[in-house]
Amino acid sequence: MVRAACLLLVAVAATTLGCGGDEPALGLPPEPAGWDADVALPLAEDLNGDPGILEVNLEARLANFEFSPGVPAEVWTYNGSIPGPLLRARVGDRLIVHFTNNLPESTTIHWHGVKVPPGMDGTLEMQPEVEPGGTFEYDFVLPEAGAFWYHPHIRSNAQVGRGLYGGLMVDDPAEPALGHEVVLILDDVLLDKDGMLAPQDSGGDLGDFFGREGNVLMVNGRVEPTLLARPGVPQRWRLVNAANSRYFLLRIEGHTFVRIGGDGGLLEAPIESGELLLVPGERADVLVTPQGPAGAALTVRWLPFDRGYCTDCRDPEDLFRVALDASPPWEAPALPASLRVIPRIDTSGAMDQRVELTEQVVDGVVVMGINGQPFGEHAHLEAYVGDTQVWRIVNTTDAHHPFHLHGFEFQPLGIVGQAPLPLEWKDTLNIPSKSTMRIAVTFDNRPGEWMFHCHILDHQEIGMMGMLKLMP
Ligand code: C2O
Ligand code: CU
Repeated sequence: MVRAACLLLVAVAATTLGCGGDEPALGLPPEPAGWDADVALPLAEDLNGDPGILEVNLEARLANFEFSPGVPAEVWTYNGSIPGPLLRARVGDRLIVHFTNNLPESTTIHWHGVKVPPGMDGTLEMQPEVEPGGTFEYDFVLPEAGAFWYHPHIRSNAQVGRGLYGGLMVDDPAEPALGHEVVLILDDVLLDKDGMLAPQDSGGDLGDFFGREGNVLMVNGRVEPTLLARPGVPQRWRLVNAANSRYFLLRIEGHTFVRIGGDGGLLEAPIESGELLLVPGERADVLVTPQGPAGAALTVRWLPFDRGYCTDCRDPEDLFRVALDASPPWEAPALPASLRVIPRIDTSGAMDQRVELTEQVVDGVVVMGINGQPFGEHAHLEAYVGDTQVWRIVNTTDAHHPFHLHGFEFQPLGIVGQAPLPLEWKDTLNIPSKSTMRIAVTFDNRPGEWMFHCHILDHQEIGMMGMLKLMP
């Protein structure tokens, strides 16, 4: 009784008072003061007094960044920080970004996962490149809640790898407050012995083929930071994998992850697991309830995950810590059994598209592609506004590839011959080696040329990228 009433209080208060975002989660005891200070992201300054508009300045520029204290390294940033400023809005808000490029080369911003209008997607098929010294106005409505992020879409492996990425959280004020929320953007960087960023092409063709990984893990630009926690009080971690190639398989000894959502908002029901896998470009929304004696520190560990050729076969590494304070353990109310109802896409009569992820050696150089064609020579896939299609993504290669579709959220149906996947909205999904994944997608009224690609950014750059032509 007590539990149910408490939960109801949380849910009702959340709905009527519009908590969510970084407001305190009502009904939950507070966390220790400064609990997330070690990973705090700079918030972009909102230049607009209208509560329905988030209007910000973003500048891509060089900066010095201390991966290790006292050793400044030259990086590329949005507004001088890694990650760039956190953009936080509510579903239905309008986002206006006055973007200035002060990099030595052209760039764009891609709003990963957002259903942007054509012309705002950051790909050269849909918007002009922003030259050095140039500007661009991004201006669109955020139609769905979810955990999104932004990054360049020119020479993505080099530009993202040097530090250009940031989070974009779109909150639904009607969502219940299930835990104290923090955004955690994961990345790895390759530092040389002097603590400088290694050149993007280090490792040559093989580096491209395997997908380069870094040797230093970061959470919100910090190495092994610490969150503070109160025993028993759930924390809601909004995780983003912004790394070029690295798969993050996470584990906390004696704890579980309760995944409540992902790329495109909440799941229908929570899913509990001992490990959590986040592939490049992907996001997870998880509840973690730290438990343990006062003063204990939990370690969130990165575990090796063989994504092919044993490139990740190395020892586990510490990613960050959660330090428990001395308050008596709180007993959290049970989670709601149902978080949301997601209408299932009706695939009867859907057209079937085959999308094969391919690789070949041309004149001694590895070329990756879609259906045998590298980007640039690719054939367009086609669809008409209003169509529902089922894409069969065929991975015959010896490595996993994280597949990302621009502009539209899809529902993963599952790997052919295996159990269906949970119903959810996704835009980035791991396609295991030697498997065929089916996804369902409905194309709404935004005709244009929409990219899809492997989010291992080296693979994207050597051709594993294609284009969907959506016709009116
Ligand atoms: Cu985050 Cu085209 O990708
Ligand atoms: Cu790939």
